[in-house]
Amino acid sequence: MHVQRPFFMALIVTIFGFCQLSAIIWSQSSLKPTPLHTLAQSAKESLLPNGIEVQIGDLHERVVALRDDVLRISMWKGDFAPEDASWAVLASARHGSAPVTLSESEGHFGFRTSALIVELDKETLEVIVRDQAGAILQQDARPVRLDGDAFRIYKSMPLDEHYFGLGDKAGPLDRRNQAFTLWNTDAYRFQESTDPLYKSIPYFMTYRAGRALGVLLDNTWRTSFDFGKESATAYSFGAPGGPINYYVFYGPSPKQVVQTYAWLTGTPPLPPLWSFGFQQSRYSYMTQARVLEVAKRLRADRIPADAIYLDIDFQDQNRPFSVNRTAFPDLPGMVKQLKADNFHVVSITDPHIANLSGHSYLPFDSGIAGNHFVKNPDGSVYTGRVWPGPSVFPDFTRQQTRAWWGSLYRDLRRDGVEGFWNDMNEPSIFDSPTATMPENVVHRIDEPGFASRPASHAEIHAIYGLENSRATFDGLRAIDPEIRPFVLTRATYAGGQRYAATWTGDNSSSWNHLRLTTPMLENLGLSGFAFSGADVGGYAGTPTPELLTKWMEVGAFQPIYRDHSEKGKGDQEPWVGGPEREAVPRHFIETR
Ligand code: GLC
Repeated sequence: MHVQRPFFMALIVTIFGFCQLSAIIWSQSSLKPTPLHTLAQSAKESLLPNGIEVQIGDLHERVVALRDDVLRISMWKGDFAPEDASWAVLASARHGSAPVTLSESEGHFGFRTSALIVELDKETLEVIVRDQAGAILQQDARPVRLDGDAFRIYKSMPLDEHYFGLGDKAGPLDRRNQAFTLWNTDAYRFQESTDPLYKSIPYFMTYRAGRALGVLLDNTWRTSFDFGKESATAYSFGAPGGPINYYVFYGPSPKQVVQTYAWLTGTPPLPPLWSFGFQQSRYSYMTQARVLEVAKRLRADRIPADAIYLDIDFQDQNRPFSVNRTAFPDLPGMVKQLKADNFHVVSITDPHIANLSGHSYLPFDSGIAGNHFVKNPDGSVYTGRVWPGPSVFPDFTRQQTRAWWGSLYRDLRRDGVEGFWNDMNEPSIFDSPTATMPENVVHRIDEPGFASRPASHAEIHAIYGLENSRATFDGLRAIDPEIRPFVLTRATYAGGQRYAATWTGDNSSSWNHLRLTTPMLENLGLSGFAFSGADVGGYAGTPTPELLTKWMEVGAFQPIYRDHSEKGKGDQEPWVGGPEREAVPRHFIETR
């Protein structure tokens, strides 16, 4: 299992211990179920090998057991169930099947597995999930609310239940009493209350009275989760479109829930050993000479750093997959020299491709030739302004586009660059009122397991970063099957841990942001991203020497340990506070 590291498990277990101590008596929701149908329609039940499907009028609800402890619940209107395809949940898990024993009482259809008892209300289609002994683990608080394509699912919220996950949403570790929107956003200088942030991981864990349960809403639209804002007795989740399709899985331990989440969505690949070391970055080391100078100082000062980063200024006018030959006259020579000193180079490769016709800019020319960019509804190529100016955007939902993207890494790999940083992949767009593409931009899904079809950006937005990092990871493996790719992504979706590590984006150099790193990285760990970090020292602003020193200490115990800072602010390397302060990071990096 790579999904959790012992240090984090220990912290989390401690926190769960406190939750238990504060246990209060279960209080049933007071929301009264209302029948879904007033006509004389009665519920029809179909028996399935691993569950049941119930129909009232044209509304269908299907509950199946993928494993004894894993349920999949889906609901739809009309004769056709939604497409059974997923960017997140592995086909092996989705096709799982556990034996069930069917049961029926006056008010319910239901079944049991060797671990769970499921009941569906014949009038309201509300679901109750119990453990073997009959204790309620999860219970609908009211019927699913349907409003056109939108839906919202309400579950009873006992007073002593606690909620974790949803990736690195800021704020306290426990999500109770908060509400969140999942819509990948370039949240420069985010604060504790900023929402949405960079990632969409529509998964949470409930914990009450020693029992943990996982819930994954596999829906890529703008989902939202409310743990007590709308109602004090019910939590809820929903979306404005897309399938009503979620997984409920039982622990009872949090560790088992995280393991099952990994069974559903995959485990991270083994990272290269060097990526566990201290990583030195900034936006940007502007020249080859400066990169070599920083590396030399790290060695001279006996700071055991393993990686050094090239941010966007190493490129020609911020154009991805180009090199500024004036500032970096000999990139392969520089990488070789660094390698001889045991440094591994990570370069940025943003997804926006400069819109540059007639400039012999290969990523643009080959992308246009291969029809790889997303389109406006009128069929023209969509452009938006990012670091290089007007840019076009690969359609990572197409497998041939991902293969093309992967091939763009050949030159940097040949030059010896070992790690790759997929930034700005929400995607971030500077000249759009929403800071991203319009929702009617058209993607063309062409992907095994999916129907080939056009899809709106509203549907694809959440997975743009996921599929970008997948294209990078798979591309690097295709170029060199022997390497363990190190890919760092900013935006992602559930399952993104299969391809990339992640970091929490543009935090700030403040004590509060140092404090925030702990709950953010723990919730990422619970959400499948064991390998994650926060910019050490803070990205925006300049840390005081005292803050930088403390952050260097804390960062040594976080999975990714990368010192990174914004352009135009003071230096943030370990030595900036003078020799006495520098002794502290040296000690902690050595300890690590
Ligand atoms: C984004 C990234 C930041 C990077 C900068 C320039 O703001 O989050 O880490 O340094 O872009 O590439």
